[in-house]
Amino acid sequence: MMTTPTTPYEETALCANLGRRDGRLLFAGQDTVELARQYGTPLYLMDEDRIRYNCRLYTQAFNRCLPAGSRVLYASKAAAFRQMCRIVGEEGLGLDVVSSGEIYTAMTAGFPMERVYYHGNSKSDRDLAFALDAGVGCIVVDGVEELLALEAEAGRRDARQKVLLRITPGIDPHTYAAVSTGQVDSKFGVSIETGQADEFVKLALGQPHLSVAGFHCHVGSQVFWEDVFERSVLVMMAFIRHIRDTTGYLPEELDLGGGYGVRYVQSDPAIDIPRKIASVAETLAAIARRLSLPVPKVLMEPGRSIVADAGMTLYTVGAVKEITGYKRYVAVDGGMADNPRYALYGAKYTCCNAGRMDEPGDMLCDLVGKCCESGDIIQPQIHLPAATQRGDVIAVCTTGAYNFSMASGYNRLRRPPVVMLQNGRSYVAVKGETLEDLVRLDM
Ligand code: LLP
Repeated sequence: MMTTPTTPYEETALCANLGRRDGRLLFAGQDTVELARQYGTPLYLMDEDRIRYNCRLYTQAFNRCLPAGSRVLYASKAAAFRQMCRIVGEEGLGLDVVSSGEIYTAMTAGFPMERVYYHGNSKSDRDLAFALDAGVGCIVVDGVEELLALEAEAGRRDARQKVLLRITPGIDPHTYAAVSTGQVDSKFGVSIETGQADEFVKLALGQPHLSVAGFHCHVGSQVFWEDVFERSVLVMMAFIRHIRDTTGYLPEELDLGGGYGVRYVQSDPAIDIPRKIASVAETLAAIARRLSLPVPKVLMEPGRSIVADAGMTLYTVGAVKEITGYKRYVAVDGGMADNPRYALYGAKYTCCNAGRMDEPGDMLCDLVGKCCESGDIIQPQIHLPAATQRGDVIAVCTTGAYNFSMASGYNRLRRPPVVMLQNGRSYVAVKGETLEDLVRLDM
């Protein structure tokens, strides 16, 4: 599909932390070409002030609209490293983790473990033991086998572990297939529709070493569809009413998962998060009234919408190749190893030449990486200035979510550093890998 050429400054309208000065792209008010020079490329930049701003969009709306004890959990899979844990911890958020590695990251960052919720559809006995020993606040149990394994581990410690039960509400979020999880045949959770959720809840309530705090559901990621969370609320509250009627059990917490979409390109809608949360709260209050139920404490687990627009990746151009009569490639010094999202999902990105922001984007090209395969495309069919040449700095916007965390060592490319920008200064939050790091575990 052809895209239309961008006017020089269009890219910077994507998010408030983008700007332009003297033909240079500014990120969080700082000159990106200078940052590339100072730290080298490829380089992940993260705007700490924007992360905190995004956290507050959630926490302030939660405080305004939802019952006391409701909590925002940052889905650390979006970008998991210690400084992220510290930042969201300071903002008062809890943490959604999915592995012993994410638990260890949080723990060694000094994150309060009682605020950690541990997800995952295939936790081993070892994972469960590690979580219990780490003092993880809540374990989100995905199914019957895990439930019984956790009961046994908690029993061995003579502990009573707080749990949520993951329920599949049977909702299609209309996002891309790889990140849809709410539909009945999902690999996650236990389905209401099949009647298995009923049995699951009854079994959980009978376990002496587990304390069931409530239910969890998550329908998908990068969701724009208007009423997905409202529909989750309706389905889950009807389920809660049914469970109360059949067992007498009333959950305290309802976790609605994550998923609000973000703008990668200007044609993506901008989601007004406080307004969305207010509308979820209204729906919840209305259905609670109708079903004669108390309003539960609400949890949400945003990942992408906390960090995506707080991130940017900088590269240096290695080659501009024109295949006469066919196409042009602009090849950079990173690629699918630091950003696999186009290769995996056909994800869209806004890209620009950070040092030529005053020049029109009049050259149609594919932005590609340096990995040894043709699928190593960061973004096809973009427009860059015709003068783009070897040595120029290319910025790919909105790479804060699922880029660092999904980076691989393919072709033994070194993972780039993460540099945080905060109030005019910059600091290294994660060091870049060295050649020695690459062989550290090799025998
Ligand atoms: N909670 C649960 C249980 C989840 O599975 C996820 C995302 C989230 C919360 C956070 O969702 P978010 O707010 O970030 O949309 N690698 C893919 C995204 C995978 C999302 C997986 N689960 C990508 O790069 O788009």
